[in-house]
Amino acid sequence: MLTAGDGRQILAMRIFTDSAPRGAIDPAHEVRGEAARVRDNLGGAGAVIAIASAKGGVGKSVIAVNIAAAIAMRGRKVAIVDADLNAPSVTRMLGMKPPRGLPMVEGIEPLAGPHGIRVVSSEMIAGGEPPPISFLDDAGAETAVGDSAQEAGYRESIVRMLSLTRFGALDVVIIDLAPGMDRLHQLAQIAPLGGVILVSHSSEQAVAATRTLIRLAAKIGAPVAGLIENMSGFNCDGCRSVRPLMPEGNLAGLATEFGLPVLTRLPFDSRLAEASDRGVLFVHQYEETPLGKSLVKLAQDIERKAALTRGATYSAA
Ligand SMILES: Nc1ncnc2c1ncn2[C@@H]1O[C@H](COP(=O)(O)OP(=O)(O)OP(=O)(O)O)[C@@H](O)[C@H]1O
Ligand SMILES: [Mg+2]
Repeated sequence: MLTAGDGRQILAMRIFTDSAPRGAIDPAHEVRGEAARVRDNLGGAGAVIAIASAKGGVGKSVIAVNIAAAIAMRGRKVAIVDADLNAPSVTRMLGMKPPRGLPMVEGIEPLAGPHGIRVVSSEMIAGGEPPPISFLDDAGAETAVGDSAQEAGYRESIVRMLSLTRFGALDVVIIDLAPGMDRLHQLAQIAPLGGVILVSHSSEQAVAATRTLIRLAAKIGAPVAGLIENMSGFNCDGCRSVRPLMPEGNLAGLATEFGLPVLTRLPFDSRLAEASDRGVLFVHQYEETPLGKSLVKLAQDIERKAALTRGATYSAA
């Protein structure tokens, strides 16, 4: 007899069977361990870097996209993985048409993005709308967020994206995560992370949540390379100087507390939100602005250290 819980299990199963036609996947692929499959597949990549945060909406995706673009504009081979299953945004920020319902089969090619960026998005799993993992079960009732079948579904979807895609030889792979500890935890269990970059504001609440995320990362052995302080000031038209936007000093204090570097402090610039909504790359169009320069410098730094530490842990030191 089926229970409500079984229904959710079936929902999670269906997500994968829908996206993987029967017979399309080598059975041996299923037998090997998840982490081994992902590690094998990313073997040709230099550093694999995750962009994570405790709080949502702090700028992970827009930073990840612009870092990837700045690295690609320097002639390096870069892939970006949009690991946000519920609200993927990378393809739109790159000005690409979101893919719809591609079969996620062994050897699937990444999408071709601007400047040669290779793009892997959760949209490839089950199309753009509705989101790849629905929070409605078969009867249309809402399932609880954090439900174990949902979590298993999330993890399996990420494994599929990272193990079935033909990444090829790359200098850097950037993984843009959904917010929250669970997401980093799940990724760290399956992917050979060279570095985790945490994005936060400097508000007390964001910093408190980021502290918890740093502790979790230490506990699970995820290598935190440093922090990005986003929206650290506001440079308005006509202002003589950058004005504070968030309480200052809290994130710097957190970095000191854990001996981590603040990799960069990015100001608020309303053109960034406007550009990303239009699918225009800020580092391309506004390279000479303070924010553009900071993003490009950060990308250069990541690329340089990734090259030095190919295959090993990326460290900001
Ligand atoms: N420094 C900035 N200046 C202006 N706008 C910014 C800045 N950083 C982020 N934004 C804008 O804030 C919004 C949220 O950014 P983004 O989607 O990248 O956050 P996120 O952390 O990926 O969110 P989520 O947790 O939902 O994945 C976007 O509209 C983005 O363009
Ligand atoms: Mg995002």
